[in-house]
Amino acid sequence: MAHIRIIYGTTGGNTQLTCQKVSSDLEELGHKVTLQRCEKTNPADLLEGDVLILASPTYGHGFLEPHFQLFMPSIENLDLQQKPCAVIALGDPKYDLDYFLESEKKLTAYLQSHNGNNIIEPLKIAKSPLPYFDKALKKWVEKLADKLTN
Ligand SMILES: Cc1cc2nc3c(=O)[nH]c(=O)nc-3n(C[C@H](O)[C@H](O)[C@H](O)COP(=O)(O)O)c2cc1C
Repeated sequence: MAHIRIIYGTTGGNTQLTCQKVSSDLEELGHKVTLQRCEKTNPADLLEGDVLILASPTYGHGFLEPHFQLFMPSIENLDLQQKPCAVIALGDPKYDLDYFLESEKKLTAYLQSHNGNNIIEPLKIAKSPLPYFDKALKKWVEKLADKLTN
């Protein structure tokens, strides 16, 4: 059993819904999950547990979600010490096709430049997360869980 910490930012609730589903699917597979909003996160929390997942949608032409954007400077000096990491990104092409799902690139770049060990391709959700629940999201969680047990 691994302890997985998911830190997310949300404005409209889609990312929260996504992270809650990822969390309950991981728990069903026997893992322990701590799910927390970035506003309630201390930088040191990122180093606790076995796996770190960062989750944010894209807002305003390629920025992270506003709470996550405010949170980023507080974790700028962190060394993730090769911690196993993953990214969940949400977006919608109708807002800005040039910056569609840009949060995926921003979070992945953060992990890379802060010595995180990205163990799985990002979970990318376009538009509503609900159609992903029983297919892509479930498969992603199973793949992540496989990597933790093998
Ligand atoms: C004002 C606004 C700007 C947005 N800008 C982008 C964008 O540049 N790129 C993108 O892929 N999605 C963009 N989106 C879509 C959101 O990322 C998407 O709706 C997401 O599911 C919202 O997550 P949340 O409900 O957790 O806040 C934007 C949404 C809003 C409301």
